[in-house]
Amino acid sequence: MAKQKTVYVCSDCGNETSNWAGKCPACGSWNTLQEVKLDSKSSQKRSSGSFYSQKPKKLNELDTSAEIRFSTGISEFDRVLGGGAVEGSLVLVGGAPGIGKSTLLLQMCGEELGGKKILYVTGEESERQLKLRATRLGIDNGDLYVLAETDIDNILNAIQELSPEVVIIDSIQTVSDGEVNSAPGSITQVRECTMRIMRAAKDKSLTVFVVGHINKEGSIAGPKVLEHMVDCVLYFEGERSTSFRILRAAKNRFGSTNEIGVFEMAEKGLKCVENPSEMLLSGRPENCPGTCVACVMEGTRPILAEVQALVSPGNGYNAARRSNGIDYNRSAMLLAVLEKRGGMPVGKCDSYINVIGGLSLDEPAADLATILAIASSFLDRPVGGDLAAIGEVGLSGEIRSVSLLNQRLSEISRLGFNRCIIPANARDDIGEFKGLKLVKVKNIGEAIAACMGKHE
Ligand code: TYD
Ligand code: MG
Repeated sequence: MAKQKTVYVCSDCGNETSNWAGKCPACGSWNTLQEVKLDSKSSQKRSSGSFYSQKPKKLNELDTSAEIRFSTGISEFDRVLGGGAVEGSLVLVGGAPGIGKSTLLLQMCGEELGGKKILYVTGEESERQLKLRATRLGIDNGDLYVLAETDIDNILNAIQELSPEVVIIDSIQTVSDGEVNSAPGSITQVRECTMRIMRAAKDKSLTVFVVGHINKEGSIAGPKVLEHMVDCVLYFEGERSTSFRILRAAKNRFGSTNEIGVFEMAEKGLKCVENPSEMLLSGRPENCPGTCVACVMEGTRPILAEVQALVSPGNGYNAARRSNGIDYNRSAMLLAVLEKRGGMPVGKCDSYINVIGGLSLDEPAADLATILAIASSFLDRPVGGDLAAIGEVGLSGEIRSVSLLNQRLSEISRLGFNRCIIPANARDDIGEFKGLKLVKVKNIGEAIAACMGKHE
């Protein structure tokens, strides 16, 4: 029998040590070291071998045509990948169960992908279940092969025999290596199997999409090392109760991580939402106090979202504060600025802030709209349904300039708004926008007066 070696692996950072400790020496997390038994044979295999066995070359002599992209046939997916999938890359798609990872990848398989041979390995569903889902999604691609398998050796053999160009592994947590002495989904299994898939992918220039479930803390279950190994990490987010889904890149070796893809889960699978602003603003109450429209940039795309606030007199002590979609600390700061610089005693009130559609606005450009929504609720006066607001709020109540103002204003004008409140000293030269009146303000007092009249 092969000799066994015991190591302790941190479930947070994937660090390996030979002794157990209460605290991981690498990342400092408590109680995360797990005992892992390795066959000395498999540990030897793990440490040897390289993907590339070539000599160093001069950078300027390298062939730049090596990065060949192909479209996934899903425009929003292409956008997040940086303009299509790169041949030979390994993409990890993470997300909570039931969010739509399998649906997205299966829909991609339904597109022709330039006649590429595709292998869909499913460890979670049977072939029959997959076929039923494909039929429902209207997928009929002659180049799509399906394999219901969880053993890594069998999967790699199938890849060897079929020689597909695109492989989908759904999901990495179900795949296991018989030689590794731990349960499927455990750190060692996930890492070992990803390593072997990666080796096969780089060898044959395969494009691989790997599905990974996320755990309670929101990171991909198993080791963080998984994220270091792959070329691209995408997270599929959204509330299961709403049909809105956002695909976000956390890491991308071939493009920026700013772009988001917006989808809607419909009866026949995921639909791309090319105009997220229209969807986010639909069903907005007219002339209702406590709401204002903000504009944030998601990559190169301006997105309009409605910020709502409800301010009600509390019980006088222990004011309740809740914030959804706006950072809690940021909203606390805005409440304090409004109290001190805007003269509204909102500090003692209960306040609830919410961004419609489950979107997170983590850009300071949404400050002004948030503060106007709070003031509007406090005064019980609407800001007006034809108004949007852009600007960062400083601690002395001043409104500061934000980047890419022209792009934001053109989206606001496109969506039919008549007025927009903007910082008085804007950084850029502001163009003309048809039908849009620009109201320049220096501080929150002016902004409140401009849309709700003077506050006594
Ligand atoms: P799924 O892709 O199975 O999620 P994951 O692989 O991330 O666990 O998505 C399942 C959810 O999507 C399920 O709750 C039902 C819903 N759904 C639709 O609404 N319409 C559809 O056409 C499909 C295929 C799924
Ligand atoms: Mg699934």
